[in-house]
Amino acid sequence: MTVAGRLDAKRVLVLGGGGDGIGRAIVRAYAAAGARVVVADVDAARATEAAGELRTAGHAAHALSGDVRSREQIDAMVTGAAERLGGLDTLVTVVGGQVAFVPAVKLHEMEDEDWETVYDLNLRYVMRAVRRVLRLFLEQGTGGNIVSIGSVTGIMAAPKQAGYGAAKAGLLSLARTVAAEYAADGIRMNVVVGGAINTAVNNGPAADAWVPEIPAGRYGTSEEMAAAALYLASDEARYVTGQQIVVDGGVSVRGPFPE
Ligand SMILES: NC(=O)c1ccc[n+]([C@@H]2O[C@H](COP(=O)([O-])OP(=O)(O)OC[C@H]3O[C@@H](n4cnc5c(N)ncnc54)[C@H](O)[C@@H]3O)[C@@H](O)[C@H]2O)c1
Repeated sequence: MTVAGRLDAKRVLVLGGGGDGIGRAIVRAYAAAGARVVVADVDAARATEAAGELRTAGHAAHALSGDVRSREQIDAMVTGAAERLGGLDTLVTVVGGQVAFVPAVKLHEMEDEDWETVYDLNLRYVMRAVRRVLRLFLEQGTGGNIVSIGSVTGIMAAPKQAGYGAAKAGLLSLARTVAAEYAADGIRMNVVVGGAINTAVNNGPAADAWVPEIPAGRYGTSEEMAAAALYLASDEARYVTGQQIVVDGGVSVRGPFPE
């Protein structure tokens, strides 16, 4: 559910908003709340399709393609979004995960390259994107807002997902540091921490086996993640920074996280 006007005229870049997952739900919710959105994704067709859907619904939206593993492409996506929107108010970082990119194995079996891949796609790019928008926000003198998508693997043990858990824990630290360093400049950063969410990565019988481990008795939805991301991007959250909102149906208070 969105409330029209909550993000009126906000200029937003969403990194990884083209898929059918959480990013797609976020761009839909933000646009419906009045934001002007740039959807950026490594899959150009997905970004174009997502932005086209928003425009058809009467919203202002643009598509950009780029790979968050490249510093140059991150800089180009931030610059390109600011050019299209006449500046930026909000950055949303969505790209992340482990099992979609590398095997889920115990730590003694983990290869260096796989650790690097998971780190690149969950924390290094966020640092680079955040650093780039901080410079932009400071130049603009407008303040700004950063919302990042985290995971309960960053607040619990993460069996067979050590790299993912470590990177998502680092994301929470990054948000706290940004909060402390830039609150006086009107810049906020917060994290939406997801539990088990019913995106493509969680299709199949292995995922069904998790359901009994979830106190709420079901997977969460991308729309439930987007609702928290919408609140954090809105002025209702103007005094909230360096925090996490956990959207997990009770998984993290029950533990342990299922393998
Ligand atoms: N799905 C879950 O159960 C779950 C649970 C908790 C947290 N999360 C977090 O939510 C976020 C999104 O997860 P999702 O399942 O919706 O993912 P998804 O795979 O559905 O969407 C990710 C999007 O990012 C894009 N992308 C992938 N690699 C990219 C790259 N190198 N550069 C630019 N774009 C790239 C993909 O094309 C896709 O459109 C991640 O940070 C993940 O850690 C997911």
